[in-house]
Amino acid sequence: MLPAPGRFILPSVLCRHILSEPFGRKEKQHMNQKLVVYFSATGTTRRAAKKVASQQDADLYEITPEVLYTGADLDWTNKKSRSTIEMADKDSRPKLAGQPADIASYSEIWLGFPIWWGVAPHIINTFLELYDFTGKTIHPFATSGGSGYGKSSESLKMSARGAEFEAGVMVR
Ligand SMILES: Cc1cc2nc3c(=O)[nH]c(=O)nc-3n(C[C@H](O)[C@H](O)[C@H](O)COP(=O)(O)O)c2cc1C
Repeated sequence: MLPAPGRFILPSVLCRHILSEPFGRKEKQHMNQKLVVYFSATGTTRRAAKKVASQQDADLYEITPEVLYTGADLDWTNKKSRSTIEMADKDSRPKLAGQPADIASYSEIWLGFPIWWGVAPHIINTFLELYDFTGKTIHPFATSGGSGYGKSSESLKMSARGAEFEAGVMVR
């Protein structure tokens, strides 16, 4: 005879709960509420983002372009390179690859990027425009070849619906 549904389901639910405790990675992610999101074309911002995530005990999410940037794409001395063309068009929104970030689970978000032509690469705007940041705080940080943070947050604020922005900082 089959067990009554109530008798069968309850122990299996309890079992799953107990078994998931020691491996509770997802649970920790949700309690953590801190996320470091970053884009890095050549690795500098990635290294910085990992340091910030470690300092803050935060989860990490990389913004990945659908088409990765080649060395030629990043040549800022070439007026026809991909990055020059994208950055000259304030409405350009390079497409993303990968799974969306679980932004809803986090209240504090560190946002890292390299400075391109004095501001954030437009792929950061692509990312921000996907989510609702109401009730969330964004802490921007950037790497560069020497420029300061400048007015990088101005165009980001327009893309990050509902977010509170802390002052942006330069990191190494
Ligand atoms: C297209 C492009 C534009 C850049 N514009 C600037 C700039 O305006 N000022 C600056 O100091 N560095 C500039 N850089 C240098 C990067 O900001 C710097 O190398 C950064 O740390 C790279 O980070 P990543 O390795 O995470 O991509 C530019 C780099 C690229 C590829």
